[in-house]
Amino acid sequence: MPRSYQHDVLIIGGGAAGLSLALHIADICKVAIITKGPGKDGSTYYAQGGISAVLSDSDSFESHIADTLKVGGGLSRPETVKFTVEHGPENIRWLQELGVPFSSNDIYNQGKRELHLTREGGHAHRRIVHAADATGKAMSNTLDNHARQHENITFFEHHIAVDLVTTQKQGHKNSPNRCIGAYVLNKKSKHVETFQARFVALATGGASKVYLYTSNPDGSTGDGIAMAWRAGCSVSNMEFNQFHPTCLYHPEAKSFLISEAVRGEGGKLLLPNGKRFMHNFDKRGELAPRDIVARAIDHEMKRLGASCLYLDISHRSPAFIISHFPTIHQRCLKFGIDITKDPIPVVPAAHYTCGGTNTDLNGATDINNLYAIGETAYTGLHGANRLASNSLLECLVFAQSAAKDILAQCNKPYQYREILQWDESRVTDSDEEVVISHNWDELRRFMWDYVGIVRTKKRLERAMRRVKLLQQEIHEYYSNFRITSDLIELRNLTLVAELIIRSAMLRKESRGLHFSLDYPEADETSSAKDTVLKPQ
Ligand code: FAD
Ligand code: SIN
Repeated sequence: MPRSYQHDVLIIGGGAAGLSLALHIADICKVAIITKGPGKDGSTYYAQGGISAVLSDSDSFESHIADTLKVGGGLSRPETVKFTVEHGPENIRWLQELGVPFSSNDIYNQGKRELHLTREGGHAHRRIVHAADATGKAMSNTLDNHARQHENITFFEHHIAVDLVTTQKQGHKNSPNRCIGAYVLNKKSKHVETFQARFVALATGGASKVYLYTSNPDGSTGDGIAMAWRAGCSVSNMEFNQFHPTCLYHPEAKSFLISEAVRGEGGKLLLPNGKRFMHNFDKRGELAPRDIVARAIDHEMKRLGASCLYLDISHRSPAFIISHFPTIHQRCLKFGIDITKDPIPVVPAAHYTCGGTNTDLNGATDINNLYAIGETAYTGLHGANRLASNSLLECLVFAQSAAKDILAQCNKPYQYREILQWDESRVTDSDEEVVISHNWDELRRFMWDYVGIVRTKKRLERAMRRVKLLQQEIHEYYSNFRITSDLIELRNLTLVAELIIRSAMLRKESRGLHFSLDYPEADETSSAKDTVLKPQ
């Protein structure tokens, strides 16, 4: 008999957003955190550059707000940007108190070592707090250690949420729709278990795995966006997919990221003939926002038929490079590239999902008792493009505000509702797993070719036709065979692909990360609009 659980709060995801939320509420609430892998399996662990926050006397909230709005291409919501930026410094202090080992200067301020602030594209000031070039690892380790020591937090690793449970889907039609839990596949027992909860928070990360080349770990399959959509939530701005300009180009490197901070500290982008080219595209050169840099690299690669371009930091001293970028230095050495001497071969890769499930300033979605925080959410911070290092900041700030909202409601009496058991009586084990792996590959390849850095109307139509075919096949498969992790993820990715393509088709202009050859200019005739999709 599959197991069932009851918690005050079910958090789906153990990255920066999920762990921070858990730590903020665990003194009052009983919390379950579920992760698809063995914990620390999301993008957070791989974050390199750092977290943006206004921490130096020469910087200001106004400047961080202005930079975020500018990169957001007219679509960032000013109230969200202000809210996020103004809550930045206190969240960095919270992480420091927890013990995250951020890099510091040798300068002391009121007896404390000052944090070292690095620079990234689109920022007018040095404002990126970091732990050398492995900020995510430092942050994940600290948050995860604290969470595992807390008696009110239980981890369920190797568990993948299949779908949210809402009162409406359970047939309770007389009260407003409310999220009351989730169906979750235990990957070890292979049974679908029920998790009942007063509050559910999606902290499932992004969907960049929908593209063939990505900087993201394997689990970035948009599960939260897909589950929220199926439960009845609206999504916004799904056409804005950020491509990071510089991932290591090497057959065995699996899209290892070369942090933007390398350019922030003077790295130069070079053509195969050793010439710089970024100033032909933008006066900020290598420090232009990443949509511009990624498009410039894509353009030059296509123009020259080159399989990669180069990023060179070797003019800085070896001691500087090794102390600032120890992870990148080591990783490149493994592939025979000594970054203190050699330029690094780089290509763009899908990096960040700017759109997502609509939420308010508390991380609350359209459905009562359901929150979405972190990369899975659309808060209005990023608009048409995300400013570097604003994502971890968003994870922290919205975990904090969702926690406040949950804590304010947690003392009200609550009656857990019985959840119907998952019905497996009509399915059998699949004898054709190849269908799943084939469809995964097909989806990611056509999304890369047709819905990538540069789009056209025709390419989007082609991609939509293919998505529809895949969806039919997946639907049949889902109805007839026992579900597996790969099937759940493919089903979600295909839905997210559809939402991306539909949103891209609706945007008849180029703006931020969405660039169409059919509509190469921004539509300045009316004010910029979000692309909002609502389930029928
Ligand atoms: P994640 O950290 O991705 O965690 C998602 C969690 O959800 C995982 O635990 C996963 O197992 C779980 N999950 C997902 N689906 C399910 C499911 N169905 N059932 C159960 N569990 C599920 N941003 C910055 O601001 N600064 C940086 O320097 C930076 N560098 C980056 C470098 C790399 C290589 C990458 C990939 C991203 C980087 N980003 C950076 C972006 C940033 O790291 C992410 O946006 C952020 O970490 C997302 O955090 P999250 O908590 O929302 O999700
Ligand atoms: C990087 O280090 O380049 C990633 C920063 C980010 O994604 O914000």
